[in-house]
Amino acid sequence: VTLPAHGSHQPFDPLALVSSLVPAGITASGRLAPIDQAATTPYPEEEALVATAGTARRADVLTGRSLARAALGELGAPAGPLGRRPDRSPDWPVGFGGSISHAGGWCLVVVARLPSGWSVGIDLERDEPLPAAIVERVLRPDERTRLAAGRATVHDDVVVFSAKEAVFKAVNPSTGRWLEHHDVDIDLAGPTGRETFTTSFPGRGHRELGPLEVEGRWRRSRQLVATGCVVHPRR
Ligand SMILES: CC(C)(COP(=O)(O)OP(=O)(O)OC[C@H]1O[C@@H](n2cnc3c(N)ncnc32)[C@H](O)[C@@H]1OP(=O)(O)O)[C@@H](O)C(=O)NCCC(=O)NCCS
Repeated sequence: VTLPAHGSHQPFDPLALVSSLVPAGITASGRLAPIDQAATTPYPEEEALVATAGTARRADVLTGRSLARAALGELGAPAGPLGRRPDRSPDWPVGFGGSISHAGGWCLVVVARLPSGWSVGIDLERDEPLPAAIVERVLRPDERTRLAAGRATVHDDVVVFSAKEAVFKAVNPSTGRWLEHHDVDIDLAGPTGRETFTTSFPGRGHRELGPLEVEGRWRRSRQLVATGCVVHPRR
């Protein structure tokens, strides 16, 4: 599946997207696919996850499970249901990590073979400007100042928001720490050129999380923004 191109932005090639969201040296697999209202037959344990869900949420969860299982299979993980941990993150098999996101009728999944203590987070958003009230609430003053000063495209605020969600999905399960939007600072001027982002944890993050290395990337097509990061203890 390839999303249509628009302007100077290249279309998303799903597999190229997945590999572009994780650093070199990480063995990863993944999928970008439309949410399937009739997702492949789930395991009973996965069916139990959506027992009380509405139609849309059911399709989101089961599409994610189906795509994640296919991607895990490619990496040699044992077949089986993909459950949910108490923090609501997917219960990845030992030795593997990953992340799931849904937006605009699409589901993005990335899975990887990871050393102990490493984690992956991804997020997908519709590529639309954030409402002013959301910008006000979720972006730190520093982030708003940087966007206003260096703005290359019309709504990079959604990329910053998405990057925060991706970082949360990697950091929360691996550290057990909850993060508010203002606990994470995203700078789209990343360390390794275009479409990478730099992450810091101002305030309590420094004390509570310990020294973490975050390698963040982002991509956009006409309708969607995808962000991804790999997090590991600082060497
Ligand atoms: C988890 C969260 C970030 C998901 O974002 P979303 O944009 O609503 O939805 P997405 O489709 O992108 O992601 C949902 C998926 O995230 C994953 N997820 C849920 N909780 C998670 C957690 N604690 N850690 C890692 N992944 C999690 C799940 O795989 C879920 O899909 P599933 O239920 O089908 O398995 C969000 O709902 C949340 O809990 N936010 C509170 C914390 C927060 O936002 N803090 C500020 C950011 S720094």
